[in-house]
Amino acid sequence: MVGGPGRDTLKRCLSVTREQYKVDACIANGENAAGGFGLTAQTAEEMFASGVDFITSGNHIFDKREFKAYLETTDRVIRPANYPPGVPGKGSGTFRADGVTIGVINIMGRTFMPPVDDPFRCVRELVDRMRHETPVIIVDIHAETTSEKVAIGRFLDGEVSAVYGTHTHVQTSDEQILAGGTAYLTDVGMTGPADGVIGMETRAVLDRFQSGLSERFSVQKTGPNQFCAAVVRVDRQSGRATDVKRIFQRGIP
Ligand SMILES: [Fe+2]
Repeated sequence: MVGGPGRDTLKRCLSVTREQYKVDACIANGENAAGGFGLTAQTAEEMFASGVDFITSGNHIFDKREFKAYLETTDRVIRPANYPPGVPGKGSGTFRADGVTIGVINIMGRTFMPPVDDPFRCVRELVDRMRHETPVIIVDIHAETTSEKVAIGRFLDGEVSAVYGTHTHVQTSDEQILAGGTAYLTDVGMTGPADGVIGMETRAVLDRFQSGLSERFSVQKTGPNQFCAAVVRVDRQSGRATDVKRIFQRGIP
């Protein structure tokens, strides 16, 4: 979700999509929902009101300083689990949908990303613990490189229901059920402005790339929007995924 356009597009598209695919539970990444950088209590509540059940995040989750307090109290918004001990918030959580406990884990990659602890070791520990609670576990790997995300997918194949990537804002077309029964998609993409550069106004991004100076970015407010998602069907007993469908709706006013 990127900024106001992302939240508006979510409002417009999510309820229809939930109905169309008979979706029982919806997890969304909200790290860019507030003005393109971070999340606030109000924007999180707006996402919940649009039909999101649980929010994951990434490297921008602490951009709005006041959100730290909310992260300490909420059980529906998590931040990457492999931040060092003592960082506010939790890196995993559960919620109930259609009588099933759904476990969600958020981890962050290390290649071209802020320095964090080993995502492989961290996610392994969390999955081992969570499997005592539920076989239905969803992992958001927030990372820059495709290879690191594919590696996490292979690493967790057969142990979680789904692994999908976030952070690049560019959807990949490699949705698949891996050999062990884990649904996988390298990057789920972005809901927000289709123009601009991954949600931000083009001019400032070009200026930064060309000058090397740190330009202030603003969310692209004009032009069409896009809605990106993935729908995963999971066997509630075994936790194995049986189907994954990628959604990319363009040209949303
Ligand atoms: Fe990110």
